[in-house]
Amino acid sequence: MTQSVNNEKEIVLSGIRATGNLHIGNYFGALGKFVRMQEDPNYENLFFIADLHALTTAPDPEALHANVRNIVVEYLAAGIDPEKSTIFVQSDVPEVSELYLLLNMHVGIGELMRTASFKDKARKALGIHSDSDDIEREIIGNESNKRVNAGLLTYPTLMAVDILIQKARKVPVGKDQEQHLELTRRFARRFNSFYGVDLFPEPYNFDFGGKPVKVPGLDGSGKMGKSEGNCIYLIDDEKTLRKKVMRAVTDQGPTEPNSEPTQPIANLFSLLELASTPEVVEHFRNAYADCSIRYGDLKKQLADDLVALTTPIRERIEAISADDAYIARVLRQGAEKARERAARTLAEAREIMGIRKFY
Ligand code: TRP
Repeated sequence: MTQSVNNEKEIVLSGIRATGNLHIGNYFGALGKFVRMQEDPNYENLFFIADLHALTTAPDPEALHANVRNIVVEYLAAGIDPEKSTIFVQSDVPEVSELYLLLNMHVGIGELMRTASFKDKARKALGIHSDSDDIEREIIGNESNKRVNAGLLTYPTLMAVDILIQKARKVPVGKDQEQHLELTRRFARRFNSFYGVDLFPEPYNFDFGGKPVKVPGLDGSGKMGKSEGNCIYLIDDEKTLRKKVMRAVTDQGPTEPNSEPTQPIANLFSLLELASTPEVVEHFRNAYADCSIRYGDLKKQLADDLVALTTPIRERIEAISADDAYIARVLRQGAEKARERAARTLAEAREIMGIRKFY
């Protein structure tokens, strides 16, 4: 019998780095999932904004503060309900910073340096364009005045702590975060076995049953991403959104019946599948198959459906954004809830490690 009672709910936690606004890739990929999960009585959900992680690249105080606020507002506007889920800002839980210091004592710099995201970001920081595996040499031997900050190296420790301090077992994240989750499990096992305890459960990615959603960009290439400049943002007004969709990359059109769509067209179909009804998708698939398709019609339909989807969200963004008191209330309540469990876990970790008081 696996009927869960209130205090046995499984903890679901996910975070998003506070950089820029949310786009429909975030919406379909993550937010949509969060909103469904909070309706499920088996889970207790925590969603946070990772402002400390945002400091690892291009810190900008004013932008950071504004970004944190924007993402909170966008979380709320997209349907995350602060009465059902805990919404908080990472730095509002100072216990995270302390456990990050403690856990780092059990993390090897070698394993951190081998992390794909670190190699990527370290090379970006140094302006190196190579795929050599000798990243240690590139960093240690670097004689320019550019540097790779230690926060970037220990990014996975901080992420592991976000998860472990809440004892979360389910962490809905994209594929690109799998390696960080793998490290989190390794750190948890290592800590538990070193001290002979059972403090940290091992967390796993979580997909809510369905297949992972891939949200492509409008530029005919890969996925929608802030750094790719191919995004539709939740805050884009109707005119901007339509313009972006109408300018999406296409091709010359199908020349033979029943041919495989090229990448840019496949991307448009993927977006249509996310935003439109099955009948609409079917209609355009048939038109593609018999070569009667007009991309302009497809784009207009896609734009209409995206406008219908994002307009109410944008209106809520505007309303919530004007309400400082509400934002403050949500985040104060979220911080209190998130700190409760964090403080308990930190106290246990300190005790286990021998950090005990004399007074
Ligand atoms: N690294 C994640 C990302 O870039 C953000 C993140 C930080 C996170 N801490 C987390 C995600 C903890 C899930 C759980 O997307």
